[in-house]
Amino acid sequence: MKHKKIISAVVGAAVAGTIGFGAHANEMVKYEVVDGTIPQSLTGVAGDVANGKKVAINRKKGNCLACHTMPIPEEQFHGLTGPSLEGVAERMNEAELRMRLVDPKVVAYDTMMPSFYRTGQHRVLKDFEGKTILEAQEIEDVIAYLRTLK
Ligand code: HEC
Repeated sequence: MKHKKIISAVVGAAVAGTIGFGAHANEMVKYEVVDGTIPQSLTGVAGDVANGKKVAINRKKGNCLACHTMPIPEEQFHGLTGPSLEGVAERMNEAELRMRLVDPKVVAYDTMMPSFYRTGQHRVLKDFEGKTILEAQEIEDVIAYLRTLK
């Protein structure tokens, strides 16, 4: 019994680590969902591929590798919770990718993937109350990077 408790404490710590993203208190951009996609750029500024890759890797920002395999061989750890993002640009267009990042629960109700541009999520750390995980431009940068994964 005692042994079991220790294990769940360790698992709890690992999960808290996974959702321990950085946080932003910027004004939120309004966006429109059209048929489970977000067609309009959040910022109107073209995404920066190199920065998008950095945001995706950064454990305090996208932390995408916690759950996804990506074609980034220089990073050792790749998660298996979500599908591989190799070739994702062949499967999803920009509007679909934006929905997946902003608020994936709209299209995959019980997904484990965090909503990167939504406030008021349940199970967030105190630091995240009223804040989004990524800034609007960071979302656009990650989309630009994902669009290169052909
Ligand atoms: C806590 C785990 C987790 C994290 C972190 C996460 N994802 Fe996901 N993601 C998932 C899961 C699980 C799915 C499968 C969709 C579902 O749950 O139905 C998914 C699906 C996706 C899809 C759809 C892929 C497809 O082929 O259907 C994309 C694109 C995606 N994630 C991108 C990202 C990006 C980019 C990041 C980082 C900014 C990220 N994810 C972070 C768990 C995660």
